[in-house]
Amino acid sequence: MKFGIVGCGMIAAFHVNAIRQIEGAELLGVADVNIDFANSFAEKHNTRAYANYQALLDDPAVDVVCICTPSGFHAENAKMALKHNKHVVVEKPMALLPEDADELVELCKSSDRLLTVISQIRFAPDIQKVKKLIEENAFGKIVQVNLSMMYCRTPEYYSGSAWKGTWKLDGGEMMNQGIHGIDIMRYLVGSVKKVHGLSKTLHHNIEAEDTAAAVLEFENGALGTINSTVAAFPGYERRLTICGTLGSVVIIEDNIEQLNLKDYTYKRDPNGKTKDVSNPSDIDVTGHVIQLTNLINAVNGTDKLLIDANENRETLQLIWGINNR
Ligand SMILES: NC(=O)c1ccc[n+]([C@@H]2O[C@H](COP(=O)([O-])OP(=O)(O)OC[C@H]3O[C@@H](n4cnc5c(N)ncnc54)[C@H](O)[C@@H]3O)[C@@H](O)[C@H]2O)c1
Repeated sequence: MKFGIVGCGMIAAFHVNAIRQIEGAELLGVADVNIDFANSFAEKHNTRAYANYQALLDDPAVDVVCICTPSGFHAENAKMALKHNKHVVVEKPMALLPEDADELVELCKSSDRLLTVISQIRFAPDIQKVKKLIEENAFGKIVQVNLSMMYCRTPEYYSGSAWKGTWKLDGGEMMNQGIHGIDIMRYLVGSVKKVHGLSKTLHHNIEAEDTAAAVLEFENGALGTINSTVAAFPGYERRLTICGTLGSVVIIEDNIEQLNLKDYTYKRDPNGKTKDVSNPSDIDVTGHVIQLTNLINAVNGTDKLLIDANENRETLQLIWGINNR
């Protein structure tokens, strides 16, 4: 399976790393709106730079395009790739507007090409463990869910980027940072039926929201809350608490912190490794490797595609609901 990457910034390097860890996957080249970025990225990663995205799409040897551009370009980049008969790996979020997400869902239905949206945290071993426990009804009836994402981003994080903090290209802190937590909450607990949310720009000199709060009702009847910000000092790790009538779990970042079932209690070693939550590039590439491998296997017909456009749309729908947009 031959890959091309569009957008040669921070996350693109993780895609190069992931592709090169997968047997049978090969990186053919990269493209960027800024040819100097494409050239220096290509040189650093020992690959070729296409003149632009169109040139990458016109290369018949490219089977899969990894879309690593700013979020507001994802939908258009993905539509172009599907129309050029490429399979697509698109970074989160798949789209910033409902109409673009709908169009992608429809395009995927009518195409024989596959699209997957990066949601790498789902593949963390502890998230998979909790998913299995919930499927086995180990928690009984889930009654309460709390997702806390008290992050910190510096003013320089926004001032150093032309797109971060804008509605049109970034979509706000839930679309950018909070989407991972919202996605795993929804993955574990299920679809959300009702949402009441508020979001505001409380601290950063940006256009989009930097702080949000929401009350939720899930399809399964559970109630929940989300608190989310990038304006907290010093910033804490993401904490997801799921409480049921037979058991409960606290997940911090990607790890089970505490798990209590009727006949089982687990508490994480307090001396274990923690994540630098204020560093946007402190990312484990393992989830990307698993997800790209899943796409390749789905294309080859040996596996079911795990995260498609429809699946990501539900996560986006929830964020739009909280933003009242
Ligand atoms: N999965 C994750 O954990 C994770 C982590 C970080 C970023 N991301 C996502 O990856 C995307 C990129 O983030 P980043 O931090 O790498 O950004 P970045 O600013 O470092 O890089 C973006 C690159 O895209 C290029 N670009 C801009 N517009 C383009 C266009 N129209 N066509 C082609 N290239 C274009 C820019 O020149 C730049 O090189 C975002 O959507 C973000 O949400 C995901």
